[in-house]
Amino acid sequence: MRVVRLATETDFEGWRAAARALRLEGLNPEAVVWTVDGAEPDLLSGGMAEAGAAAPGLGAPQAALTVPRGFMELAGAVVLHRSAERFALLYRLLWRLQKQPRLLEVTTDIEVAKARAYAHAVGHAAHKMKAFVRFRLVEDAAAAPDGIETFAAWFEPPHRVAERTAPFFARRFSNMRFSILTPDACVHWDTERLRFTPGADPADAPSDDALEDYWRTYYASTFNPARLKVKSMTSHMPKLYWRNLPEASLIPELVAGANDRTARMVAAAPTPPSIRTPSQQAMKAAARIARDGAWEMDAPGDLEALAAGVHHCRRCDLWRDATQGVRGEGPDHAPLMFVGEQPGDQEDLAGRPFVGPAGQVFNKALAEAGVPRDKAYVTNAVKHFKHEPRGKRRLHKTPDRGEVQACRWWLDHERRLIRPRVVVALGATAALAVFGKTMPIGANRGHAIQLPDQSQGVITWHPSFLLRTPDPEEKAKAYAAFVDDLKFAWGLVA
Ligand code: URA
Repeated sequence: MRVVRLATETDFEGWRAAARALRLEGLNPEAVVWTVDGAEPDLLSGGMAEAGAAAPGLGAPQAALTVPRGFMELAGAVVLHRSAERFALLYRLLWRLQKQPRLLEVTTDIEVAKARAYAHAVGHAAHKMKAFVRFRLVEDAAAAPDGIETFAAWFEPPHRVAERTAPFFARRFSNMRFSILTPDACVHWDTERLRFTPGADPADAPSDDALEDYWRTYYASTFNPARLKVKSMTSHMPKLYWRNLPEASLIPELVAGANDRTARMVAAAPTPPSIRTPSQQAMKAAARIARDGAWEMDAPGDLEALAAGVHHCRRCDLWRDATQGVRGEGPDHAPLMFVGEQPGDQEDLAGRPFVGPAGQVFNKALAEAGVPRDKAYVTNAVKHFKHEPRGKRRLHKTPDRGEVQACRWWLDHERRLIRPRVVVALGATAALAVFGKTMPIGANRGHAIQLPDQSQGVITWHPSFLLRTPDPEEKAKAYAAFVDDLKFAWGLVA
């Protein structure tokens, strides 16, 4: 019996070197026990260990050992799962792969399915960590000798994903110094370099400060009582994560006050359409995409499958720095579709299109034009937020043609599934995505243009353009034209 002691719970390199040596030596999975320095060996997932058994020589002969493409990627994710049997499971798979090189394609195989499920759970935990980490200011710029603020966050992921998600946070908050403390590992970014230290105690986490208030205010302002579905809400923000979220303290109060607020909203303004709760089919699609990558995804059969695909999309690089892919929303067969450019800062956090400042202008103009937003499907040409960091802010960057082209796949499927009679492109990026070529707004706005799928296209200004126009007279003129165009598009529908 051989006992392999890995250096840490996430020691993928150690597992890999040991597994390779053991496999080349021909040591059967039943004869190997995997453990981590300082932990008790897991005797149930391997064989019985003999006292004093030696670890394999990591410098074993470098003979060829080939594994199918995708196995190492799968193993890299599985290692981060909290299951005690993960190292043994991977070694069993590696062993079997030598005789059955196509084993990973056998989705009914119990060990393959288990490894896939572990990898999926790890991917999900990483995604949630990206969305739910909340930083608190621990040293402000004036107090810091180098004038750089320092932030810290406490987070308890269900799997060991701190190191895996660290590059995302470093890219996204490149100009700020921060630490993310988790029970497994702590991540530190000093604006140049990532460092990792052992796991921390919750007592090391900074407590209340202004950032918490910011998050609470933000959450309360984006919370829509008319869409209250506690089940769906807890599936997007599972209770597991609530303890690390300042805004979670608002949930009971917001839920309790939802009826009153709904009544006021009905009286006051059009209600945005509902967010879908992922169906079984969508969850399956998500699992499949997580496994195969969105490039390999078949044409989505419904909007939920499409939403799952957007969520895991890797068709361009924008997903790296974004919190999430933002799908469109609205009725399944809305006769009218609005296409914006891309989610902005607030949309990226909320996961919904047009909820930030541009969304306010859009809502106001829709109301003036008599267009009910809840009868339209509202989406974007590009589904991830492109931006660059500037201090604590994330500044919008216009997506390039390649990104628009990559994301057009999703927009085309949204159009195929919804079959709107009228598609309104808001701004130049949306026009490029809808028409497949550059369409100057000034020259093309205000009239219907036939699209190959028999729908009618309308081009108009983007609401952000109205916000940015400095001259009040110009601004009023463009806004009036915008309202006219919305009215015109709604007239085409009717
Ligand atoms: N701008 C857009 O184009 N879309 C949004 O969803 C928000 C701002």
